[in-house]
Amino acid sequence: AFSADEALLIVAELKHLEGPLLPILHALEARFGHVPEAAIRLVSAELNLSRAEVHGVMSFYHDFHAEPHGRRVLKVCRAEACQARGGDRIADAFEDALGVRIGETSPGGQVSLEAVYCLGLCAIGPNAMLDDRPVARLTPAKVERLVEEARL
Ligand code: FES
Repeated sequence: AFSADEALLIVAELKHLEGPLLPILHALEARFGHVPEAAIRLVSAELNLSRAEVHGVMSFYHDFHAEPHGRRVLKVCRAEACQARGGDRIADAFEDALGVRIGETSPGGQVSLEAVYCLGLCAIGPNAMLDDRPVARLTPAKVERLVEEARL
């Protein structure tokens, strides 16, 4: 769980760096698995930045999460080659099957649905990843099976 004391230590250790915001956010994400609002408040105070600035950086990079991950993570590729192979339909199918939007976690912290930008498997897309396992040539039916598996 998030601890303000630990977060403060991390910030104190890194804030002397030139351009400390990204390293600090990475360290917080690595330590806690997410960067909650409380951490953003603390970082903005320590670095003399507005919270909007910290939020802006967090949403520009796709590495940070505002909420804890689900037990399983489904990443759906939203980059161009997969889009050209029907990726939009696949992203919709994931959202429908899980009942959440990309960027959200299903109730009970079961499965997080995330976007990823190219898995290096463009020729066999549209693709997604369940935890660390890539799944290629997705169809809506395959998406349903994958979501069922993720929920086990
Ligand atoms: Fe999806 Fe490359 S664009 S794997």
